[in-house]
Amino acid sequence: MFAVTAVRIDAEDPLSGLELGERPEPKVAEGWTTVQVRAASLNHHDLWTLRGVGISADRLPMVLGCDAAGIDEDGSEVVIHSVIGDPDAGSGDETLDPRRSLLSERYNGTFAERVTVPRRNLLPKPPAMSFEEAACLPTAYLTAYRMLFVKSGAEPGSTILVQGASGGVATALIVLGRAAGYRIWVTSRSEDKRRLALDLGADRAFETGTRLPERVDVVMETVGAATWSHSVKALRPGGRIVISGATSGHAPPAELQRVFFLQLSVVGSTMGTRAELGRLLQFCEQTGARPLIGTRLPMTEAREGFAALALGEQSGKIVFTL
Ligand SMILES: NC(=O)c1ccc[n+]([C@@H]2O[C@H](COP(=O)([O-])OP(=O)(O)OC[C@H]3O[C@@H](n4cnc5c(N)ncnc54)[C@H](OP(=O)(O)O)[C@@H]3O)[C@@H](O)[C@H]2O)c1
Repeated sequence: MFAVTAVRIDAEDPLSGLELGERPEPKVAEGWTTVQVRAASLNHHDLWTLRGVGISADRLPMVLGCDAAGIDEDGSEVVIHSVIGDPDAGSGDETLDPRRSLLSERYNGTFAERVTVPRRNLLPKPPAMSFEEAACLPTAYLTAYRMLFVKSGAEPGSTILVQGASGGVATALIVLGRAAGYRIWVTSRSEDKRRLALDLGADRAFETGTRLPERVDVVMETVGAATWSHSVKALRPGGRIVISGATSGHAPPAELQRVFFLQLSVVGSTMGTRAELGRLLQFCEQTGARPLIGTRLPMTEAREGFAALALGEQSGKIVFTL
């Protein structure tokens, strides 16, 4: 079958380890099932893998991809939950299972004609949603859902600042946050991307690092070092940063004095449970919210999508179709 695979790790030139071509058919383990992939979406996670973050060379070759929607063995349309974990081992939350992994970390991922997953990782795809839209939800949108509705503690009407307006998680935060009635402010380095964020439903868009007209209740961080100091300064006393990524670096000064003096909270967030993915699908059906897809490519042209993501040129999700 055709697949997009990481065959080598190179921190400086991640695309050099990308191979597109024939791979063996997946083997189906007990309790697992095969999905015929119709659409899969790209995440920064796939670039991290090629750079050797979260994976070691002895696990290669590894089919990349966390997200997909497709057809299961019964002919039903499904969305795949990417977290491979045991809820019992995480006190009811599979993301807290110490042995949990995402597809493409320990088990082959979704950038292939067929992928095998545990049966419990399949959810019905809402009929009103296309395969491309559904394939955007399991990582970026699920992460945004948990950040907004599980971790932020933000009450309706709160002001939420999203750092980095154009990323997959960032656009998901704008789309879902807007649909839920929050006041959404965003930052971006590019004027075009700020305009895009406003078109998507953000209330205000600021240049990255700008002093804001007032302090916010919650900051959503995925950028990391480049925006951390601004995030800490942007919060009202008692405010909260929810962080799920650190694209630009993971070790900025912690600004501890502000954290304790203003009684700020810093809360980590990763992916979401199967039940949360189910609620996200329902939320999209109920509100009409849909993921922003910036680029659609046949999976055979996936290299182009990886290159755009590596250059930070994408706006919204990059989706591969089969
Ligand atoms: N914990 C989880 O479960 C989870 C799930 C999904 C993603 N993540 C992580 O979250 C991060 C974002 O993921 P993604 O797929 O949304 O990635 P992405 O699409 O590549 O997003 C990158 C975003 O970061 C901003 N950015 C990058 N470098 C910057 C810099 N030097 N200064 C200011 N802004 C910068 C960009 O903002 P501009 O608008 O200014 O270009 C863009 O909005 C990644 O690190 C990923 O690994 C974690």
